[in-house]
Amino acid sequence: MNRAFAPGKIILFGEHAVVYGRPALAVPVMQVQAKVEVLDSNAPGIWIEAPDVNLHAELSTLPATLPIASVIQSVFQHLNISRFPPLIVRVNSSIPVASGLGSGAAVSVALIRALSSALGCPLPDETVNALAYEAEKLYHGTPSGIDNTVITYARPVYFVKNQPIETFQVKEPFTIVIGDTGVSASTKEAVGAVRKLWEANSPYWEGVFDAVGRIVQQARRAIECGEVTLLGPLMDANHALLQEMTVSSPELERLVAAARLAGALGAKLSGGGRGGNMIALIRPDGQEQVAAALRAAGARNVIVTQVG
Ligand code: MEV
Repeated sequence: MNRAFAPGKIILFGEHAVVYGRPALAVPVMQVQAKVEVLDSNAPGIWIEAPDVNLHAELSTLPATLPIASVIQSVFQHLNISRFPPLIVRVNSSIPVASGLGSGAAVSVALIRALSSALGCPLPDETVNALAYEAEKLYHGTPSGIDNTVITYARPVYFVKNQPIETFQVKEPFTIVIGDTGVSASTKEAVGAVRKLWEANSPYWEGVFDAVGRIVQQARRAIECGEVTLLGPLMDANHALLQEMTVSSPELERLVAAARLAGALGAKLSGGGRGGNMIALIRPDGQEQVAAALRAAGARNVIVTQVG
């Protein structure tokens, strides 16, 4: 049996603007993960078992545009294998779907690794990342590639679309609380909504994306210099620009406000928005208070993660 794991991710700064060439900062979240196991089978065909998304089917019966099916096909294609061996592909994930934590990219990355290993040709990170990016297009339409990149390399990433991967140093570790609104939201729709705004008035939105880019640069400097408290106001400023992009939601606003009131140094939505998760920067001793406030404000789940 071949087994692979991939973590979830959060975007610390720069979502949406990253689709338009501005930088963004993302880190892996090891507390949640996708697991894929590939087993030999006696039954013909490739059987996919993915209980989290209610999927139990043989590959050839699935539409080629279904991301899991397309990832499997792309691995065979990349390895020039045309006769598929009988296999069972088992997918389990603790990353909530459509929540901004990179569930689709994590399944793709774990699947590519487990399947290529099962076929005797484990693929290098660069290829895993490239194949996962192709699947991201099916999930998201016009993805920047940040999710598959941070999840493939499982390291903090300073990401600029179409540029070589760059990681960043975390001088002083800091703590982030992640609050899940429990509302699933399509990244494709959120990205599409921002595109409509941009198409209607691109000079204005280019200015907004530039402002996000400046926040990202300041945040990177603060993280690399260990000036962690500067990140709070930068998160708030980034969140205000995301609100302007119309990708917040009443549930996200409730959690962001609750975190700030409970003493978080800053808070923002994270990922595509319109639901999904928000993040808050907390002092090391503020964890219980902020987590409790998020739960009281309706968070479906709360994760505390250390960056660095
Ligand atoms: C999704 O995690 C981040 C977005 O910026 C989309 C993307 O970069 O592909 C909203």
